[in-house]
Amino acid sequence: MKIAVLSDIHEGINRENTQKDIVALLKSWLANHTPDVFIISGDMTNGPENSLTLLNQLQNEFPRTKLLFVHGNHDIYHQDSKFARETLLGFPGNLGNGPVELNDDWVVIGDGGWYDYTFGINGFMEEQFTLGRFHDFTWPDKLYAHWPGHDKDETERYLAKIENWLRVYQGKNIIMVTHMVPFSKFVICKDDPGWDFFNAMMGSSRFGELAMKYGVKKYIFGHIHTRYHELYKGIEIICNPLGYYPYEWNHKTAEEEILSAIKVIEI
Ligand SMILES: [Fe+2]
Ligand SMILES: [Fe+2]
Repeated sequence: MKIAVLSDIHEGINRENTQKDIVALLKSWLANHTPDVFIISGDMTNGPENSLTLLNQLQNEFPRTKLLFVHGNHDIYHQDSKFARETLLGFPGNLGNGPVELNDDWVVIGDGGWYDYTFGINGFMEEQFTLGRFHDFTWPDKLYAHWPGHDKDETERYLAKIENWLRVYQGKNIIMVTHMVPFSKFVICKDDPGWDFFNAMMGSSRFGELAMKYGVKKYIFGHIHTRYHELYKGIEIICNPLGYYPYEWNHKTAEEEILSAIKVIEI
C-alpha cells in the first residue's frame, strides 16, 4: 500500500506568492502516482471553509486515493475555532472523526492537536506564552485562532481524545498523525530568544509520550517547516511540509518543489 505524505501546503499564501495553481500541481501529482492513501497533516490553507473546499475537491476528483487529514493551526483561523474544527469534521477523511483502518494490520489515528508550552524555553513565565508576544511580534494564532479554552486545555482535550483511540487499537500497527510536533528533538533552537520563544507554540511532548506508551510505529506531523524522515525512539518519524515559498523551498518553481516534496511510504 502506497501512502503519500505532505503537510503545510498553505495553498492560499503559496498560490499568491508563486502565482501558480498549487492545487492543480497536487492534482497532477496524484493523477500520475495514484497513491492508495494521501495523508495531509495540517495547514492546507487559511480558514476552515477554504480548507474544506480544497479537501472535498481533491477527494472527489481522486476517489481511488483515500485522503486523510488533520487540521493545522491555519485551518482553524476563525472567530470561533471550535466551530472551525467542527466544520472541518465535515470532511469524511478528517482523522478527528475517528481512527481509519487501512487493512487488518494498520490503522491511522490522530487529530490536529495544539500546544501546551512543554517546548517553551526557560526564562519566561507561562503568562508570556499565553499572550504569545515577544517584543513587537505576536504569534499569529493569538490573532487569528480563537478557542474557548486556554491553549493547555485545548491540548488536553486532543490528548484525551487521541488516547481513547490508541487504547482501543493498542497492539495494532498504528500510524499516529498530528499537525503539532510531538518531540522537542524536532523543534529548532537558535539561541535567539526572538525565535526560541515561539517554540512554546510548536506542539507538546505529551503527544510523543502517548506515541511511545502505545507503541506507535510511524508518527506523521507538520507545523514546523523543516523536513524530517528518521527513526527516533523506535518510531519512524515523518515531517514532510511543503512550507512557504520562497525561503523554505529547495526549488525555484512550484512544479519542481511540489513534485519533489511529496513523500511516499509503503506499508
Ligand atoms: Fe505551516
Ligand atoms: Fe502550522
